[in-house]
Amino acid sequence: MPKNFYITTPIFYPNDKLHLGHAYTMIVADVIARYKRSQGYKIYFQTGSDDHGEKIAKKAKSLAITPQELVDKHVLLFQKLWKELGISNHIFYRTSFLIHKEKTQKVFTKLLEKGDIYLGNYKGNYCITCEDYIKESKINNNYCPFCHSELRLIEERAYFLRVSKYYPNLMNYYEKNPDFILPLNIKKELSENFLKNDIRDLCITRRDVKWGVQVPNNQELVIYVWFEALLNYLTSEIGERNFFSTENNCEIIQIVGKDIARFHGIYWPIILMLLEAKLPNKILSHGWILSEGGKMSKSKGNVVDPLELLKIYPQNLLRAYFIGKINFLQDGILEEELLKSFYQDFFVNNLSNLVSRVNKMVILYNNGIIPEFDEKINNEKLKDYYYKCCLIVKFFQEHMNKYELTKAFSQIQALLVLTNKLIQDLSPWELAKKRDNLLLNSTLNHSCNGIKIIAFLLNCIIPDTSKKILEVFNVKLEELNWNTLFDFSFLDGVKVKLLKNHLYEPIK
Ligand code: MSP
Repeated sequence: MPKNFYITTPIFYPNDKLHLGHAYTMIVADVIARYKRSQGYKIYFQTGSDDHGEKIAKKAKSLAITPQELVDKHVLLFQKLWKELGISNHIFYRTSFLIHKEKTQKVFTKLLEKGDIYLGNYKGNYCITCEDYIKESKINNNYCPFCHSELRLIEERAYFLRVSKYYPNLMNYYEKNPDFILPLNIKKELSENFLKNDIRDLCITRRDVKWGVQVPNNQELVIYVWFEALLNYLTSEIGERNFFSTENNCEIIQIVGKDIARFHGIYWPIILMLLEAKLPNKILSHGWILSEGGKMSKSKGNVVDPLELLKIYPQNLLRAYFIGKINFLQDGILEEELLKSFYQDFFVNNLSNLVSRVNKMVILYNNGIIPEFDEKINNEKLKDYYYKCCLIVKFFQEHMNKYELTKAFSQIQALLVLTNKLIQDLSPWELAKKRDNLLLNSTLNHSCNGIKIIAFLLNCIIPDTSKKILEVFNVKLEELNWNTLFDFSFLDGVKVKLLKNHLYEPIK
């Protein structure tokens, strides 16, 4: 039976359009999902919308529409964006679904009965933009230290989640599973700054908010939006099945941005422990997409609308840039000029040129038929190239298995360079002049097979480009797998298509 792979993204706030930072989270998750799919896993890929909370209610009020109308409108835009970004098959789950509300209430009741939720008094400051309670020591003149919005003092009877009870267990878990949260600096920060200092229980209800899931048997209180939102990962049918599965055949990977690593690295595992559920295998906390003024965010007003960008640049460019140019798990910059030069460099100068070059040579020197490799040839350069191709496939997988996406991408770039070098070194045009057909054919064979590998490895990152390349060589993606990559007789006798234009032309 194939192993299950459950991958989640945070659920996005539908109070507005999404920006490039959000698109980044989603693309990263999609690349991992596609890779694991190619490895034979059964993929459950869940994303969705975080429909409730004060922020949404406030925005809807300012527009004189209902919160439901507001979120429904934005969710349509999310889905349009995922389509345009080429996000593969996924579950789009919403916290305004009835099933989520019912199951969230059940969780609340269960924890209340167990004594892990209790009634107390809350006094503190709340940031609506972050939907978070802000610690006294961090507050600067009544403003949020993270987004600089004005804070609101809240003083009310409220329910608390007894997280303090499980802090030692979580510490213990961190120690036993050193790479539970990646990167390590985020884990370190969580354990030093929060786990060791902050052992307060979490306030999980709100009195003055109406747009949310009601506390069972209580007309006055709604469940705190973060507590409710985290539960989305296990109130969906797939989530419940995977988090409560008794068999050990499911890997759970959760992607989050570092701004929300605390919720996912501390509260979330504790909630799971309280519910006696499994813990995710890994939480990957990625960095921020920065643009002028720092982290791209609505409150800073420096956001780029991905739907606008996609009107000018192809989906693949954005995907490849995010994976290849932004060191995974670290912050990275996206500016139009950088995007353009990456396009010219990677898509035009490297990828497209190589494909055209090899395509042309196969047509010119062998009537468009991909020739066989002649075993009798004992050419060091070809041997070395084959050996390196095998290594690159191996390294690519090793990196991907460790979620080192940018390092995996650089293996593809290395193969592009190697293939170009092979052609340069063996100079098929000279071989043709000398009528050294054996070596000429073997060189063409290896170049085509190298491109086949490049296209296959690119598939999880830029599937459209990968398909486009394979079409030139008349191969269907489904015909390839991780083993056929090593078989350099795979393309023997295949007739290539005449490529009239380059796959990617320079931007004017
Ligand atoms: N609704 C919560 C998540 C609840 S999950 C149970 C939330 N939503 S969000 O819409 O604000 O953010 C969703 C994701 O986008 C988060 O992972 C966040 O880190 C990511 N990003 C938002 N701005 C970003 C950048 N500028 N750069 C990279 N990712 C960023 O938080």
